[in-house]
Amino acid sequence: MELGERDPHTGKMTTGHEWNGIKELDTPVPGPVLFFLGVTILFAILWTTLMPAWPTVTDYTRGLLGVDQRTTVEASITAAAAERAEWSARLASEDFAAIAADAGLMTVVREAGNTLFGDNCAACHGARGEGNIGYPNIARAPTLWGDDPATILETIRVGINSAHPETRYSQMPAFGRDQMLQQDDIKRVVAFVRGLSDPTIDDPDSAGAQIFADNCASCHGASAEGMTEGGTPNLTDTFWIYGGGAETVFTSVYYGRQGHMPTWEGRLSQTDLKLLAAYVHDLRSHS
Ligand code: HEC
Ligand code: HEC
Repeated sequence: MELGERDPHTGKMTTGHEWNGIKELDTPVPGPVLFFLGVTILFAILWTTLMPAWPTVTDYTRGLLGVDQRTTVEASITAAAAERAEWSARLASEDFAAIAADAGLMTVVREAGNTLFGDNCAACHGARGEGNIGYPNIARAPTLWGDDPATILETIRVGINSAHPETRYSQMPAFGRDQMLQQDDIKRVVAFVRGLSDPTIDDPDSAGAQIFADNCASCHGASAEGMTEGGTPNLTDTFWIYGGGAETVFTSVYYGRQGHMPTWEGRLSQTDLKLLAAYVHDLRSHS
């Protein structure tokens, strides 16, 4: 091993190390690499001086700038809570007409309402209130109990056929099972009812209208448009809670129906109930 040997090809000195005839050139670290190494070291020193960095036995170095993500988060939580307190106080105190007229509050109703609806109502009524079989479309169909916001609020508060002591109560009787009508008469009235919303279906022997007047009009109304006093559906439109096919309508009349809408009192705050009522009412006015 010879120190200070010069490599004939590059003209550089070698380190004197040799492995199986391969010799290592003694080239210095390139300037730019040293420069950036220096810069990163300087940056690290500066940064750890300014920002929280080193753990100590019981604490950590805080840094000269005093930056603390916990206080940053706390400040934004306090700001959000103050904003929430501000709009929830106004939601609680203002009436529905004032809320609807206030563009700022309606933005809150639409955003917070959408989340509340998604978490609590969409499983039954669909993400946009469009309904599912057995669960009414609450965005567009005529309501059972009334569609002004205060009535919607009351429906959400007590539910329909729910466990709440003040629940709204309704029931479609089982005309077939409880032998109030013969099967043939049920078929006739079913044809009549289906024909109300679909003109291509007619009542084969025109007896359906009379059966309806005698048995159904007391609850569904003489013109079958439903009655909000008893929460009965309108049978003349194209919205069906359970379905408008011949077999489904027959099943509704033969076995009866009783939908269950849960009560939300106690599960959601009064402000959230009101917010949801405003949300549902708004959904209805836009669809
Ligand atoms: C477990 C299923 C279920 C959930 C969850 C549910 N609903 Fe209902 N909802 C129903 C049923 C069923 C009816 C119809 C009852 C009937 O057929 O008489 C109904 C009816 C309604 C109506 C119509 C009232 C009318 O007069 O037509 C509104 C409004 C309503 N629900 C709002 C809500 C809101 C808001 C939520 C969320 C807080 C919600 N529902 C959650 C099942 C549900
Ligand atoms: C005691 C009152 C009452 C009487 C009488 C009554 N209904 Fe109903 N009907 C209801 C109620 C309430 C509902 C809604 C049930 C629910 O969703 O919980 C309903 C629902 C229905 C439905 C289902 C509608 C849908 O959207 O899917 C049909 C169809 C129907 N009734 C037809 C009739 C016919 C036909 C008669 C007469 C033979 C009749 N009803 C008599 C109260 C009544």
